[in-house]
Amino acid sequence: MKKARLIHTTPDPALKPGPNPWPHTYELPADTPAPGLPGLPVTNHAGVFCADRLDIGTRFFLANLPGGLGSARVADLGCGNGVVGLAIALHEPDAELVFTDESYQAVASAQENFRTHVGTDRKAKFLVGDGLTALAPGSVDLVLNNPPFHSHQATTDRTARRMFTDARRALRTGGELWVIGNRHLGYHVTLRRIFGNSELVASDRKFVVLRAVRQD
Ligand SMILES: C[S@@+](CC[C@H](N)C(=O)[O-])C[C@H]1O[C@@H](n2cnc3c(N)ncnc32)[C@H](O)[C@@H]1O
Repeated sequence: MKKARLIHTTPDPALKPGPNPWPHTYELPADTPAPGLPGLPVTNHAGVFCADRLDIGTRFFLANLPGGLGSARVADLGCGNGVVGLAIALHEPDAELVFTDESYQAVASAQENFRTHVGTDRKAKFLVGDGLTALAPGSVDLVLNNPPFHSHQATTDRTARRMFTDARRALRTGGELWVIGNRHLGYHVTLRRIFGNSELVASDRKFVVLRAVRQD
């Protein structure tokens, strides 16, 4: 069937691999639409989503995040380098942040960025795992999510659906999930199926920001 190849290698000591490019740090653009973020250096370990620049969907999310959160417990679900949760932490001094991602490199990046720019005294959690499985049911007030929509080259909302379902479980009654997505993905339909509601917060030609409330 010729489906697999076994390759043996022997290191050549004469070859110089060059300096390790990781972690990679870039500065958030001057027009990043969230207070405190413009010009901030963000560190990205190898393999982290959009490790060399601010993603345009993330940028649109940053421009449309909720405010006035008080001491809310906020989960940055699929946090990547943690820039979304970082925006909340810098703007909402009493909010308690939980950063979660299935990638160790992402959570390490988010932790580094949070500790560098917010400080070591601020209470926060950094969890590696699937969705919000490490969080108890009804234990968070707000979930922020920019879900992945690719899996092995295919466009799919499978992970997003699982993330939304898990967000509903982790939210308290009255808690909210805020989602950014490409308009063509139709997340409003998925959210209505899972939460029974979905409200459009903002949109442009490419993206929508949606809000769903846990009602029971
Ligand atoms: C589109 S990126 C968003 C990253 C970051 N929040 C941002 O907006 O720049 C989606 C993130 O979800 C993470 N992810 C994918 N599947 C996951 C899962 N089952 N549980 C938790 N995180 C997951 C990926 O590792 C990635 O960091």
